[in-house]
Amino acid sequence: MTELRLKDRVAVVTGGAQGIGFAIAERLAREGALLIIADVNAKGAKDAAERLKAAGYAAEGIPVDISSDASVAAFARALDARHGRCEILVNNAAISDGNGIKGMSMERYAHVININQHGAVRMSVAMIDLILKAGPARRIVNIASIMGVRSWPDSVPYSTAKGAIVNFTRAMACDLATDGVTVNALCPGFVNTPMSILPDGSHEYDSDWFRDIYVKYGRIPFRRWAEPEDIAGPAYFFCSDDARYVTGQVLLVDGGASATF
Ligand SMILES: NC(=O)c1ccc[n+]([C@@H]2O[C@H](COP(=O)([O-])OP(=O)(O)OC[C@H]3O[C@@H](n4cnc5c(N)ncnc54)[C@H](O)[C@@H]3O)[C@@H](O)[C@H]2O)c1
Repeated sequence: MTELRLKDRVAVVTGGAQGIGFAIAERLAREGALLIIADVNAKGAKDAAERLKAAGYAAEGIPVDISSDASVAAFARALDARHGRCEILVNNAAISDGNGIKGMSMERYAHVININQHGAVRMSVAMIDLILKAGPARRIVNIASIMGVRSWPDSVPYSTAKGAIVNFTRAMACDLATDGVTVNALCPGFVNTPMSILPDGSHEYDSDWFRDIYVKYGRIPFRRWAEPEDIAGPAYFFCSDDARYVTGQVLLVDGGASATF
């Protein structure tokens, strides 16, 4: 029988209703963790938890809007009442954005920063007591992006937020190491998720220019985009006992894209 390496650990995945978050939730659940799908999409959170339960895993959906102090506080209270602890927090929820510096409104900038940057900070602050009360191998994993260490046109709010998440990870890691909490970040490259679908219904990575630069000319050495499951394995590693001496690290999971220029 396969050993369940995260047995009975309570794992919260924000934005776990779909995409990368769901793939990470599924991977952690497969290792025996009790999954809390925390998503602003309440029905999506419930449905995702049902999908995991139907597969034989332990899961619950609890809605949360990471952009709201009140919602995040209510989420932490609900988790405390139900489980009283949290071994694993995956700060994954975010929104996409295509604004460059020219003509960008400060309202839009603040909106993206409030979700993509402050959301992870807000969750971490609200959850820290529950994490410190938890059992062994306490873990925080922040999902940043290749855009947190590189950039490209029309990505000022998104890249700025993701860059902040990268250094937020290091700063938190320094604060929590002596408490036995590790904090690491994953920077996915280009991943096939609902976030990659453009407003007109087309796929961001299914364009001629993307195929030319990233596939034909090998800007992604793997010559394909990632599937969410490609990100879930490295996320599991950070959550595992094998990563007990790994903290403050930033792992690019990008098919080698950042190794090229
Ligand atoms: N898809 C990519 O190519 C890619 C690349 C690099 C990094 N990322 C990052 O990976 C993470 C997951 O992205 P994805 O592609 O799976 O996105 P997605 O849009 O498919 O899923 C995001 C999830 O977050 C939830 N969410 C959005 N706002 C929220 C809020 N305020 N509170 C709670 N939940 C909220 C959504 O309901 C959704 O379920 C994000 O941090 C994203 O920035 C994605």
